[in-house]
Amino acid sequence: MEVAKIIKSMEKEDFRVLRAIERGMRRAATVKMSNICFFSKLKMEEVLFRLNKIHKNNLIIRDSTGETSYKLNSIGYDMLAFHILVGQGIISQLGVEIGKGKEADVYKCINDDNEEMTMKIFRIGRTSFRKVKQLRIFVGERRHFSWLYINRLAAMREYEALSKIAPLGLNIPKPIGINRHIIIMEFIEGTELNNLIEIEDPVFIFEDIINQISLIYKNVGIIHGDLGEFNVLINSVGDILIIDWPQWIPKNHPNGLSILKRDIENICLFFKKRFKVESNTEEILKSIIS
Ligand SMILES: Nc1ncnc2c1ncn2[C@@H]1O[C@H](COP(=O)(O)OP(=O)(O)OP(=O)(O)O)[C@@H](O)[C@H]1O
Ligand SMILES: [Mg+2]
Repeated sequence: MEVAKIIKSMEKEDFRVLRAIERGMRRAATVKMSNICFFSKLKMEEVLFRLNKIHKNNLIIRDSTGETSYKLNSIGYDMLAFHILVGQGIISQLGVEIGKGKEADVYKCINDDNEEMTMKIFRIGRTSFRKVKQLRIFVGERRHFSWLYINRLAAMREYEALSKIAPLGLNIPKPIGINRHIIIMEFIEGTELNNLIEIEDPVFIFEDIINQISLIYKNVGIIHGDLGEFNVLINSVGDILIIDWPQWIPKNHPNGLSILKRDIENICLFFKKRFKVESNTEEILKSIIS
């Protein structure tokens, strides 16, 4: 990760300028010098010096068409979040990458006690717009919304789901920390269901998944909304872990029933195709909502 290399050279004024640009991006795609000065409360010369430095370090993008203005790039945004998470003592070091996808980068990380955790950095809109669509309904009536906002929203929503689900004592990762578009959660060993050609007791695994969906629905009123063989992990002893929750919806949502049905259908269909497990979506749906 780029941020880890640069973070040591960052000074507090650099962060002030980065935060000023972030602030300005709430209203506009790029931020003018005058606004950066205003938001950072730094003098023009200081701002110029800092802008040059963080631009060289590849944390911001300069737009020179017309009046020069700036915007954060993903490394700049990572830097802001990373700095806070380190400052709060939640993480101290980044580890290996464990999942790089279209919509998130996932890393191992550790804290000062060498405890392993998972860091999920949202990258919605980078190459795929699927989650932008899924999350669009939560954006509301905003004129301008940037990728900063949609990724922060995704992190917030996933964190909220994990927090609500945690007391149920399932194997779903416990939330540990959040800042901006990054969440820190428990590290969980497991492989995506989709990677398995064979499993020992597919009916048991299938029922376990349905049972967890049902427990979550009944006890905390949450519907996953993007369930399938890619978002269910299974560990070496056959525990099921449902991940990837940013698009969850509450059960009283107007489309709740049809989205719950689609989630169940995805699981039923996958188990039928891959492991020849027969099931009845309608019956399962009925038993969950009853
Ligand atoms: N808490 C965790 N512990 C261990 N591994 C995890 C954890 N969360 C995610 N992963 C790994 O990272 C991968 C991607 O995570 P997730 O499904 O949450 O992201 P995504 O938004 O779907 O992004 P992608 O586009 O990469 O699929 C998972 O398939 C899994 O292998
Ligand atoms: Mg996923």
